[in-house]
Amino acid sequence: MDIRSEFLNYFKSLNHKVYPSAPLVPEDPTLLFTNAGMVPFKKIFTGEIPAEVKKATSCQTCIRAGGKHNDLENVGYTARHHTFFEMLGNFSFGDYFKEEAIKYAWDFVTKVLELPIERLWVTVHESDDEAYEIWQKHISKDRIKKFGDKDNFWQMGDTGPCGPCSEIFYDQGEEHFKGSEDYLGGDGDRFLEIWNLVFMQYERNEAGELLPLPKPSIDTGMGLERITAIKEGVFSNYDSSLFMPIIEAISELANKKYIYEEGASFRVIADHIRAVTFLLSQGVMFSNEGRGYVLRRILRRGVRHGYLLGLKEPFMYKLADEVVKLMGSHYEYLNEKINVVKEQIRAEEERFYQTIEAGMKIFEEELKKSSKIFSGKVAFKLYDTYGFPLDLTEDMLREKGLKLDKDEFERLMKEQRERAKAAWKGSGDTALSGDFKEILGLKNEFVGYEKLKSNTIIMAILDENFKKTDTLKAGEKGWVLLEETPFYAESGGQVGDKGEIYLYEDGKLADVLDTKKFFNLNMSLVHAVKSIRVDESIKAIVDKSRREIAKHHSATHLLHAALRKILGEHVTQQGSLVEANRLRFDFSHPKALTSEEIKRIENYVNEIIAQGIEAKVEEMSLQKAKEKGAMALFGEKYGERVRVVEFGDASIELCGGTHVKNSSEIGSFFITKESGVSSGVRRIEAVCGMSALKLAKSWRESLQKAKEELKAQDIFQGIKKLKEEVKKLKEEVKAASKVSQKELKSYEISGKKIIIDEIESGDIKKIIDDIKNANENVAVMLFQKKGDKVLIASGVKGIDIKAGEWVKAVAPIVGGGGGGRPDFAQAGGKDPSKIDEAKKEAIDYVKRILK
Ligand code: ALA
Repeated sequence: MDIRSEFLNYFKSLNHKVYPSAPLVPEDPTLLFTNAGMVPFKKIFTGEIPAEVKKATSCQTCIRAGGKHNDLENVGYTARHHTFFEMLGNFSFGDYFKEEAIKYAWDFVTKVLELPIERLWVTVHESDDEAYEIWQKHISKDRIKKFGDKDNFWQMGDTGPCGPCSEIFYDQGEEHFKGSEDYLGGDGDRFLEIWNLVFMQYERNEAGELLPLPKPSIDTGMGLERITAIKEGVFSNYDSSLFMPIIEAISELANKKYIYEEGASFRVIADHIRAVTFLLSQGVMFSNEGRGYVLRRILRRGVRHGYLLGLKEPFMYKLADEVVKLMGSHYEYLNEKINVVKEQIRAEEERFYQTIEAGMKIFEEELKKSSKIFSGKVAFKLYDTYGFPLDLTEDMLREKGLKLDKDEFERLMKEQRERAKAAWKGSGDTALSGDFKEILGLKNEFVGYEKLKSNTIIMAILDENFKKTDTLKAGEKGWVLLEETPFYAESGGQVGDKGEIYLYEDGKLADVLDTKKFFNLNMSLVHAVKSIRVDESIKAIVDKSRREIAKHHSATHLLHAALRKILGEHVTQQGSLVEANRLRFDFSHPKALTSEEIKRIENYVNEIIAQGIEAKVEEMSLQKAKEKGAMALFGEKYGERVRVVEFGDASIELCGGTHVKNSSEIGSFFITKESGVSSGVRRIEAVCGMSALKLAKSWRESLQKAKEELKAQDIFQGIKKLKEEVKKLKEEVKAASKVSQKELKSYEISGKKIIIDEIESGDIKKIIDDIKNANENVAVMLFQKKGDKVLIASGVKGIDIKAGEWVKAVAPIVGGGGGGRPDFAQAGGKDPSKIDEAKKEAIDYVKRILK
């Protein structure tokens, strides 16, 4: 039985629209990751956007590794926690409420899944008499327990929709896990929470207050992993068919048997490789901050558990194949991305393996010194120098029953952060602390696709710290919200517009420095020239650099198409930047591009430019766009209606950016650089339009300078001449060194050629090599003064003397020691005044040996 499709079909038959799983990185800036099935519907619950349907269902991939719902530390040590999991859910947006939600869930569990009723329990919120009553229609009263906010109140994050909930539990039997009936949902694994029905009634605001939602709604969540384990009759999610193939692969790699009681490391790795494979496939990259850092923490934790199993080199990347085998048919993008993803994992593993051994040693040493508390300074060093995320160190300490001096760690972190603050530029997150809530009710319209000037009014102003204000004085900076704005807000890689704001009669009011999107508002950062006020009627004018931005944006689409045509369909966009004077495009591709490939890509784009293809920009349904073959980006959330930008047959992409009207406006396109960003990801930088012209001009200037420097009309002739001169000079030097070789003092001892001498300059080792190359049978020892030290080197070929022994016998005379191989040896000495004496000993030694 495939529980996913059973579930979705069940709710489809109850008139729910089936939604595909939304990206793990949500559009919502208050959340790190999609952590529940309701996340993609949050704005519908809060009434910010209208519901297109009243009932929905989905199987949503989720990550709980950070933020309010964080299961990272429990993973592996309980039978039921995961960082990555799939949540089955049904949702009502102001349609049905408790009565139906309970009935639907009960019927599914007892009739479709056919779980034995005698094993089921339910819980309700202590204040929820209504749910308590309804449940009694389905299950006897003694199986319904009441709990408080801690257990039976659910909310998505610190803010957002929330409400009392009711949970269905499955009793796995006392014989298997500890835990009495009195404590459902407690620490033990006996009572497994399988389904959470949330009666969404409130929204929690930033002040922590509960405000009623426009319409009571339903949000439910059932963990696929748990229900699968129950259906398969196993007692841990990890023992189910969703995990066992991964665990078996780990067991094979580590050459160790998996036994549940000692298997935490196996489970951690099995869980973490799923999270890592999904996050990378959806375009999250390893990094030192934000989501990328959570990803890094998860991977490094997995690697360290591999290390505990005796795996001393990269192995996790191999397990990604198992994840694709298990889940590729449900999540097709996994198949497309697997090679790049494996490369990314392997490279990150390699990075960590370089320091893990040294880090573990430092950890062990400090452990010996600590009785109860582990030094925060050492934890910081492990973090800062050895790449051990803090929670990894904490994990290791937990296993040993020790605590960390977290205050000291935090203090050192704080110091480092202060140091880094100077370079900090601010991020979207700052917005969270601002007064956005107060202006979110306002709406502004972007009109910049059609016009670059607009007569409009200032609806709201936030100061530089995002605090609401009515005015900005001359010289101050702040963010303005215009009723109708021609300024494009940074998104899809395209930079935000700049420009100016005028008062009709009174000249310039402000310069527009940038435009960004906060929530759904396009806001422009301005520098006031005169004081500006809310409600003022103004004229907004976009800087003409916009035309150049549009050229670079259109060129990016053509480049994307060219890459897929010339390198292959595996190329997918990993990131892009579109500015007025350049573009940058990151894409998945396993190796560096050859100059031939670069040339072909450049030519292809220029051909399309030359063909003068009209750009067609159209709004259509997402479904239709996909049918037309439009390229969409993973992780980008698209509404039902999307904007599609097309250049004939050459390129078709979903895009909200600004573009040229005809490809010929791009002018010409030059690739300026090709490089690697991380393993499996390449970057192309390019210019077009006026910037291409500027570039060509700068090349002409450089060539002119080169001509002047070379004093040649033809640069290549000039270089050729220079090269010939260099060659001639090299030959002269070589001849000179041959002469000096001849002059070295040579002896014949027992019929063998022995060279022993002091040289003033030259590379002693190279001279010895040259002598050995020039002779069949020879033994040579040279001395060279280096300041107040002496260097001795000897080489032997075809003679029964060991260079190492020879040097060892001679070096003590000049106050040194050394040795080496039979054919070459080196030593140093401290007493140059004894060189002659040493030379004599060198001769005597040979005489003694060859006697
Ligand atoms: N959103 C609810 C949960 O995650 C169903 O448990």
